[in-house]
Amino acid sequence: MPSINDVKLNKTEYRNYTFLNTFTKTFLFMTFEALKPQVSSIISNTEHTVNEQLLKVCKLLEKHIEYYNWVGFYFRNGEKEELILGPYVGAPTDHTVIPFGKGICGQVAVSNKNFVVPDVTAQDNYIACSITVKAEIVVPIFVNGKNIGQIDIDSNTPDPFTEADERFLEFVCDKVSSII
Ligand code: SME
Repeated sequence: MPSINDVKLNKTEYRNYTFLNTFTKTFLFMTFEALKPQVSSIISNTEHTVNEQLLKVCKLLEKHIEYYNWVGFYFRNGEKEELILGPYVGAPTDHTVIPFGKGICGQVAVSNKNFVVPDVTAQDNYIACSITVKAEIVVPIFVNGKNIGQIDIDSNTPDPFTEADERFLEFVCDKVSSII
């Protein structure tokens, strides 16, 4: 019967994992870098309405980033302390209005900070949209320093987000803020 002590990586296996990690990181970095000009191009195309542009951004991200399974925008409802669902791709959600402070999205509306959730089951203040979701990332959108909304991404993969996602999504939010 093998014991836990037998479950050790030998040096060659460890090197392979390190290599795989570096490979994955490089691949993701290249994917994000390749997507940036496409995001810019969607945002600068004024032939489409703002909602059409935002939907195109959602589709682009969901299509190219394998662990982005639901991609959408929430925006502040005027001066009310609530968020309204904007364009999105993925399973339809009942949560079209989210009060400030409620769920991951509502908390970001108050904190003005990125919120990365590696495991949604570990969160008390979480609004479940689908049982397949394992992780979530929310990044705020600022216009003239004011938090006016956010991009919200759900993943069916556990703990998939890194700082590379945060930097990339900050880039996306910065572009989006120029058309809001
Ligand atoms: N899970 C979010 C709600 C929005 S859905 O993910 C689309 C939250 O806790 O705020």
